[in-house]
Amino acid sequence: MRISLEKASELLKSGNVIAVPTETVYGLAASLDCPEAVQKIFHLKGRPSNNPLIIHVAHLKDVFFFLQDHISDLDILARDLWPGPMTLILPIKCKLVSSVARADLPTAAFRIPQHPLTLELLKKTGPLVMPSANLSGRPSSTSPEHVENDFGSHFPVLDGGKSSQGLESTIMMQQKGRWEIIREGALSQDHFEKSLGYLPKISEKSSSPNPLCPGQLYRHYAPAAELKLVHSFENIEEGVVIGFSDKTYPSKCHLLSLGPLADPSIAAANLYDILRRLDQERHPLAYVDMNFPKNGILSTLAERLQKAAAKL
Ligand code: TXA
Ligand code: MG
Repeated sequence: MRISLEKASELLKSGNVIAVPTETVYGLAASLDCPEAVQKIFHLKGRPSNNPLIIHVAHLKDVFFFLQDHISDLDILARDLWPGPMTLILPIKCKLVSSVARADLPTAAFRIPQHPLTLELLKKTGPLVMPSANLSGRPSSTSPEHVENDFGSHFPVLDGGKSSQGLESTIMMQQKGRWEIIREGALSQDHFEKSLGYLPKISEKSSSPNPLCPGQLYRHYAPAAELKLVHSFENIEEGVVIGFSDKTYPSKCHLLSLGPLADPSIAAANLYDILRRLDQERHPLAYVDMNFPKNGILSTLAERLQKAAAKL
């Protein structure tokens, strides 16, 4: 059910959970000050309680309010990349954030989103926690229709159109005084080099039993359909293919196009819609064309496809 900005603000202030657009993906939002609503998010998504939530705010001063210590380069990253698809993990004064939202960690994740409607809402409501608005483990939502598919047509959604970026924010955390990327995202590695003066390392992916980003432990972005990642179509004659509109595939294949490889930002914006479409059209299996360079945003796209295909 589509709701107005005023209604969205009213529902959040009175302890309800609603879906809110951002430039990355839609979020399931609750007021940070309503622990019952925060708890409800975990319940609605089927999310493990040890997977903490991102706190979204409208202004940098709202981040400083929670902080325990001075953090080097925080002001530079914030000046250059907020509002935008960057999330920073920061040590906090624990008593200011409910243990449910931060999964008992002494840190919290913060983001100032860029979507104008989200910023306007945050100015009315104050800090909101928002995980991606999908059932746990499934592809994220990049449109109101996706949210309604997962949570029902009566679920309140603030309609901000299609998410322009289509991939979640890049999550950064300091390790021994240097920033590292603990979840690749809509801002690729090279975006940070100018601000930081160095290229932040991408920390080891999911293999660790104790990853810096708890969410990396779980299955993610996965449709019900089986995904087979392939680098060549030489031995494939027919079947559903997730690929690019400016490449050619065997003539009997049915292409679900991410868009042209020549403009990877379009593929990023379409990814979750294509993964969801597989299930809507009840395809049991799709071949995914992984034969593309893994630089810039395509590195994140490849990481999402690998996770979506994993049978964890
Ligand atoms: O673009 C985004 O980041 C979207 C939009 C709605 O803002 N949100 C999003 O939230 O992707 P979610 O919950 O789907 O992913 C947040 C990730 C999880 O993997 C979680 O483990 C990690 O952030 N995270 C949250 N707090 C953390 C913390 N204190 N330390 C390490 N990782 C944390
Ligand atoms: Mg998510």
